[in-house]
Amino acid sequence: MSEQVYAAITAWGFSVPEKVLTNHDLERMVETSDEWIRTRTGIGERHVVSEGEFTSTLALAAARKALAQANLPAAELDLIIVCTATPDYPFPATACIVQEQLGATRATAFDLEAACSGFVYGLNVATQFIKTGAMKNILVIGAETLSRFVNWKDRTTCVLFADGAGAVLLQPSHEQSGILSFYSASSGEGAELIIERAGGSRYPANQPMPPQHDCYIHMAGQEVFKQAVRVMGDDSMEAIARAGLHPSQIDLFIPHQANVRIIEAMAKKFELPMAKFFVNIEYYGNTSAASIPIALCEAVEQGKLKPGALVCMAAFGAGITHGALVIRWNPGPFGEL
Ligand code: UT7
Repeated sequence: MSEQVYAAITAWGFSVPEKVLTNHDLERMVETSDEWIRTRTGIGERHVVSEGEFTSTLALAAARKALAQANLPAAELDLIIVCTATPDYPFPATACIVQEQLGATRATAFDLEAACSGFVYGLNVATQFIKTGAMKNILVIGAETLSRFVNWKDRTTCVLFADGAGAVLLQPSHEQSGILSFYSASSGEGAELIIERAGGSRYPANQPMPPQHDCYIHMAGQEVFKQAVRVMGDDSMEAIARAGLHPSQIDLFIPHQANVRIIEAMAKKFELPMAKFFVNIEYYGNTSAASIPIALCEAVEQGKLKPGALVCMAAFGAGITHGALVIRWNPGPFGEL
């Protein structure tokens, strides 16, 4: 026991839309093949929203699961952060929609936009509020509906991105738990590498509609791939060093699920077996800020995260934003702080 305050992940939950789109479905929509998608990305299928489902729908479902697991009334929440690049609206924040629907009457709510790095950034931000003693119960949710922003005629992006949400509850603990170390950074000079141009102040509402192609996600895939391999590896290395650890001491890596080949390159760089890297991209595609919390939930479900385990999460996304965290997986239960 130490007197230091940690921000423990004490409950979690995820939600994906019911509708599944397989690679074979995509073969009927664009010139692609199950073989190309599987070998180049590792994706086999993905979940996409149906009419009437939004980012807030998925965020809310994930949040409800986490709160039910913790048996915590929503009114006890101090803060809700929704990490998303695909909010319901430019404003108000999707977090406010979730706050109202949950009945989290005391909670502050805001969105955090760091694209695929959103959850890593969000966990880090929430941890600071707990460590200072300012807040006790925080929901961090990664939620996306990327299927609403891809061009379904562009095979270079529509086969990759998908929808989903994952939520974690952070609470204070004196036992070592949650984030032990982090490293994060941003490189705005890479803004054009992954971009969706419409929807913001550059296209004022009182001017003609933006060209259709500006309403979709554009990605310089190869360049992003190269940078992601380098940066996710370097960031993880730095975060692990800052925790005073060696990569071989990490029990499980939970990287952003953008491409299985990026994760394989990380494993090679660390000279570690793929068994140390959690991969579920085959069933979900790239769900951006939702990918790490969904993977975290599945890793627990599959018994791959034992209490006491050391976990390294790493992400890379539009911005460019990137970062890595080392976490002690110790979900409690803890006594009241
Ligand atoms: O989450 C945020 C971060 N995002 C990422 O980290 C994504 C990083 N990038 C990637 O994962 C990969 O670059 C992609 C999966 C996007 C593309 O894979 P690639 O191996 O880099 O393919 P490529 O762009 O070099 O394209 C190779 C070929 C091209 O044809 P030609 O020019 O060689 O004739 C493409 O037109 O594959 C073609 N191609 C496809 N073929 C069938 C591109 N997309 C497809 C497709 N189906 N869906």
